[in-house]
Amino acid sequence: MAPPRPRRPPLFAGRQSAVPGLALLALLPMPMLALALPRPLTAGADCPCSEPALCRPIQHRPAFEVFIFDIGQKTWKSYDWSQITTVAAFGKYDSELLCYAHSKGARVVLKGDVSLRDIVDPTFRESWIAQKLDLAKTQHMDGINIDIEQEVNCSSPEYDALTALVKETTDSFHREIEGSQVTFDVAWSPKNIDRRCYNYTGIADACDFLFVMSYDEQSQVWSECIAAANAPYNQTLTGYNDYIKMGISPKKLVMGIPWYGYDYTCLNLSEDHVCTIAKVPFRGAPCSDAAGHQVPYKTIMKQINSSTSGSQWDKDQQAPYFNYKDPAGHFHQVWYDNPQSISLKVANIQKYGLRGIGMWNANCLDYSGDVIAKQQTEEMWKVLKPKL
Ligand SMILES: *[C@@H]1O[C@H](CO)[C@@H](O)[C@H](O)[C@H]1NC(C)=O
Ligand SMILES: *[C@@H]1O[C@H](CO)[C@@H](O)[C@H](O)[C@H]1NC(C)=O
Ligand SMILES: *[C@@H]1O[C@H](CO)[C@@H](O)[C@H](O)[C@H]1NC(C)=O
Ligand SMILES: *[C@@H]1O[C@H](CO)[C@@H](O)[C@H](O)[C@H]1NC(C)=O
Ligand SMILES: *[C@@H]1O[C@H](CO)[C@@H](O)[C@H](O)[C@H]1NC(C)=O
Repeated sequence: MAPPRPRRPPLFAGRQSAVPGLALLALLPMPMLALALPRPLTAGADCPCSEPALCRPIQHRPAFEVFIFDIGQKTWKSYDWSQITTVAAFGKYDSELLCYAHSKGARVVLKGDVSLRDIVDPTFRESWIAQKLDLAKTQHMDGINIDIEQEVNCSSPEYDALTALVKETTDSFHREIEGSQVTFDVAWSPKNIDRRCYNYTGIADACDFLFVMSYDEQSQVWSECIAAANAPYNQTLTGYNDYIKMGISPKKLVMGIPWYGYDYTCLNLSEDHVCTIAKVPFRGAPCSDAAGHQVPYKTIMKQINSSTSGSQWDKDQQAPYFNYKDPAGHFHQVWYDNPQSISLKVANIQKYGLRGIGMWNANCLDYSGDVIAKQQTEEMWKVLKPKL
């Protein structure tokens, strides 16, 4: 079996180091132990912002969420802040981003990632939550996005422990940070994608909302091993239908779209553009998008002109792709999302009554200021807005 791989673009910041449990807390001298425990919230002298008010957690509840993932550096300076309601800060902590987001009324939330084997122990959960809460308070943040993409067996102790973790995290954050937000990332469908058997209804009830990762939809391919879209239109909508059918309110679902695509090396590229790919199994499926690699939208847009096919549109998957030949003479096929494919999906947000939209990840666009790139970047932000 192929080793599990990050389900996220390579630009993804490294995993956080292991969370210290109570055992470690117990080793700390008393004054430090006090520091590590929840403290009352005060925007005091430690506020890094120009105005102390900017260190206060956001209270406003937007009618429509635009939930963005940021993985670091300063590209956020070029984001469309007229739309953003929440920034999930997956990069290094940046107080300048925090102050700026707060000045725009946007929340900034932590990344929550933990080994599921550990959270079966209620004491471990308690210390993990206390540590995250303290971090959020120290950094003047507004909540946490729990991103667990690990395998869970349906009848395992991890199944209930995960729901408990989400519930306990939400209770603690809501109690300790007024107006705070706790969210959870789920796969494009609730049907055991990547062997993630989670209690989706329980988790949805236990947090503010779910971020549905409507991408990496070829992580498990059970049919032919051919290159296909990262987020095909019908498959994406099937996922929302299934979440809603289980009884999850559409108001608990934010649609996640990809700002990256996949570059596949073709073993064979037929005249009608069928690209056969290597068989790379993933969690039980014979082939997977692991045969390709993830590419940010900005890189894809620079590559189109040197393609052998020009930009093509697949009517069945409602997604663009192109072919190119690498210097070694191998053909590649690149599947991605552009304003056209994204706006088709966005049109369903209102139809389903979803809570909002978001993307993995905001850094993927070209913010260099180059004239053509600037227009492409603006267009990608613009299509997030539902048409009224
Ligand atoms: C789930 O169960 C299978 C089969 O019993 C086992 O091989 C696998 O390691 C389990 N996975 C986890 C994450 O516990
Ligand atoms: C999911 O979690 C909820 C809340 O803990 C619980 O009531 C429910 O029975 C669980 N559902 C399943 C299918 O395990
Ligand atoms: C590979 O592609 C060529 C060119 O389109 C085609 O003639 C051939 O049948 C394909 N081979 C396989 C094994 O699919
Ligand atoms: C690609 O080619 C088109 C048409 O020639 C041109 O307008 C565009 O600027 C080119 N894009 C890039 C990124 O070079
Ligand atoms: C997509 O869904 C529509 C509506 O259910 C259906 O008519 C169409 O055939 C589907 N397309 C594909 C490629 O599955």
